[in-house]
Amino acid sequence: MADDLAEAGDIVTTVTPDMALFDGSVSPGHIRRFLDRVHRQSHRVPAAVVVCFDQPPFADREYEQAGISHCLIGHDNHRRLHDIAATIRDAERSTGENEAGDETYFVDDRAAAISMVGRSQAVCDALRMIHLVAESRCNPVLILGETGTGKEVAAKAVHQSRHPNAPFVAVNCAALTSTLLESELFGHVKGAFTSADRDKTGLLEQAGSGTLFLDEISEMPLELQAKLLRVLQERTFRKVGGVKDLTCEATIIASSNRNLKKEVREHRFRQDLYYRLNICPIVLTPLRSPERREDIPLLARYFLAHSNIRGGRPDKVTAITKLALESLSQHDWPGNVRELRNVIERAILLERTDKIGLNSIVIEPSEGDESHPSPIGERVRGFSLEKAERELIARALHETGWQKTQAASLLGITRATLYAKVKQYNIQKMPSQPTDTELPASEPAEAEPILVG
Ligand SMILES: Nc1ncnc2c1ncn2[C@@H]1O[C@H](COP(=O)(O)OP(=O)(O)OP(=O)(O)O)[C@@H](O)[C@H]1O
Ligand SMILES: [Mg+2]
Repeated sequence: MADDLAEAGDIVTTVTPDMALFDGSVSPGHIRRFLDRVHRQSHRVPAAVVVCFDQPPFADREYEQAGISHCLIGHDNHRRLHDIAATIRDAERSTGENEAGDETYFVDDRAAAISMVGRSQAVCDALRMIHLVAESRCNPVLILGETGTGKEVAAKAVHQSRHPNAPFVAVNCAALTSTLLESELFGHVKGAFTSADRDKTGLLEQAGSGTLFLDEISEMPLELQAKLLRVLQERTFRKVGGVKDLTCEATIIASSNRNLKKEVREHRFRQDLYYRLNICPIVLTPLRSPERREDIPLLARYFLAHSNIRGGRPDKVTAITKLALESLSQHDWPGNVRELRNVIERAILLERTDKIGLNSIVIEPSEGDESHPSPIGERVRGFSLEKAERELIARALHETGWQKTQAASLLGITRATLYAKVKQYNIQKMPSQPTDTELPASEPAEAEPILVG
């Protein structure tokens, strides 16, 4: 129950209600604005009902326009409320809507057009920046973010909305030596160096009036940084060994997963180039930051629904258990969205049932763990898969009040596997708690019994 619309707005960010009941004193205009805002943030309120003591104070038409599906007269009219709920449920079923099918992955149509999943404030801010930059004449454009946060997705988004029909050419500045990168970018004339047996068109020229994407700009050698700066200032360049000035019409987008300010301080990146690039930076937030956590389940479901890892064979795996989602939400994701995508694809291959469960979520230890390796025995003593599994099973049993069918489904395993694990780990119910079914007679187990209420 919310005291006001602001509180109701907070509630729908964490739960998806089957319907919302508004007190008759709230005007249709306020309800309309509330529903618009909630839907814009991609949260779902499938049906809105207004509850009045007496005759509704506003006209039917106004309620309809506000998105109100029913009017309930009398605060204690439970029978009628029950009927309304049944009608809403039937209507949803007949339109084929269900929890998994109507998932809204994108914050708005523009995000959908570039497949940028997410509804956190961080994603909304990045999208806003992408559109502001794309609609302006800002050139060059800088995109910053850790590895796997979607810098290339953002670069393509800027390109797509600025000049969709022009070329998008990309080069990774870390992948080539200084001389190769220079001739790749600017092109060269025949005879410019020993192996230059013919003229070469550089990427700046190939991009034409489209986009040149300079990935990992921080890795560009300092002498080339100076040449790039000149292109950005003069908007002209010369091929290696050439004498003719060519005009650069392309939008230049540079990306970096390093802290460029620090690179400048440490004399690895030119300060003047940094200031030239850093006009309106698009900053992508890592997945582990609290403000992006809410995107994790959404991204996981999106990758599950759109994965092609099974090569077009019918998708057997169609959902993810709550516990699996919970464990995804707790991981730190040093590889960000790319790592999450890989984990989901691996889980699709590993999963034997139709729901990804904890067993199929295999997350590699993060680099941080590897950089401070501890002796293996010590690590196993402190944390082991077995211990984690035992604790999760105990927790699922506790949460479901020892309803084993439910617990098995939460864990994404079969009932038979659950029985086997309960026996293996000697998990016992606290004496006062009745079980839904008694466990089959077990042999004395070796592990210390774990008592779960
Ligand atoms: N918001 C998002 N919605 C959907 N997919 C995303 C999103 N962000 C990233 N991805 C996906 O994650 C993967 C990595 O994205 P991308 O290549 O753009 O990251 P990056 O920041 O350029 O990484 P790197 O620094 O390693 O080059 C891609 O498969 C991309 O489609
Ligand atoms: Mg990239």
